[in-house]
Amino acid sequence: MRRSDSIINEMWQRKWGVSGWFVSYLFSLIVTVLVYWTGGTITAYPNLMYIPIAIMSSTHGKWHGMIHGIVSSLLIGPFMPLDRAMGIRQTTINWIIRLLIYAINAYVIGSISDFFRHVYLERVNKEKEIAETKLAMIYSLVKLAESRDDSTGAHIERVAQICRLLAINLQKRKKYQKYIDEDYIEKITQVSPLHDIGKVGIPDYILLKPGRLSAEEYELMKAHTTIGAKTLLEVKEKFPDNRFLDMAIGITYFHHEKWNGTGYPFGLAGESIPLSARIMAIADVYDALRSTRVYKKAFPHAESVRIIQEESGKAFDPEIVKVFIEIHEEIREIYDRYSGSQENPNIHLGTELEFLFEETGA
Ligand SMILES: [Fe+2]
Repeated sequence: MRRSDSIINEMWQRKWGVSGWFVSYLFSLIVTVLVYWTGGTITAYPNLMYIPIAIMSSTHGKWHGMIHGIVSSLLIGPFMPLDRAMGIRQTTINWIIRLLIYAINAYVIGSISDFFRHVYLERVNKEKEIAETKLAMIYSLVKLAESRDDSTGAHIERVAQICRLLAINLQKRKKYQKYIDEDYIEKITQVSPLHDIGKVGIPDYILLKPGRLSAEEYELMKAHTTIGAKTLLEVKEKFPDNRFLDMAIGITYFHHEKWNGTGYPFGLAGESIPLSARIMAIADVYDALRSTRVYKKAFPHAESVRIIQEESGKAFDPEIVKVFIEIHEEIREIYDRYSGSQENPNIHLGTELEFLFEETGA
């Protein structure tokens, strides 16, 4: 057996577990009782045995199916009368022929299901491999972009997990249930790391500047949203059916828009900003507040939460802020888990906040 076959079989067994076994053998026992109770193998009920044999063969393969076929034929074999009322026994040849028919039946059904199972699971494996390769490429690209101003690249891991957690908790609210489903949560987790991909187009002297940006530099920094989104739009032209790209473009374009319309690049306001970008904005700013950047120190969790709350209805969607406040302890855990560092309670909010909201790419 090839390694891929054994992996495929393992996956299939895991999928069906013991349920196929249990249902098949229980069914066979019920048929045995029914055959005896209705008078013996002279009735049509022995034909019901084909059902559990088919279940076992199709869920566990031909060998398990054949064993089950033999066991089932023995259950209604030598000790089961042909006609209980008349006291007539079955002839040996009768139950042996039935045993062979059950076994052949299991072999044929099992072989056909083994073939289709192999084709199906190989396809699943291939799709999984392609999806993982795609993710690995996205992460490599993003980590490369992030490495210019974040040597660990942990920012993208954290914002992905924070966006995921926010989306999961928003989904619990009736209003968002028509927008957020499992697919949405998977997409936002996977594409949120792309939000600052446009930073590759920002010169180092701006991106790494340890102080206040000039008005001109600030305008150039803002361009990371359009640079990133336009790059992704070009990718979308080549792969128009990719289900991740639309959200990736929305997040990249609009993650610096503000609820009150004072953000960039377009000055969109309220719900005209895509939901994914509104979620991303909070995750991004929280993470930026907690982290040391070239232009600011790291803020403690409580202070960061307070700042997010203060910006409710200004920079951020008030309803997402509410959810953020509800789950802030879980968000803190994500930050600590993915950064491996604890906050420094001695660092307090200073004028750096102004930088974060107004002069940087967060
Ligand atoms: Fe950004």
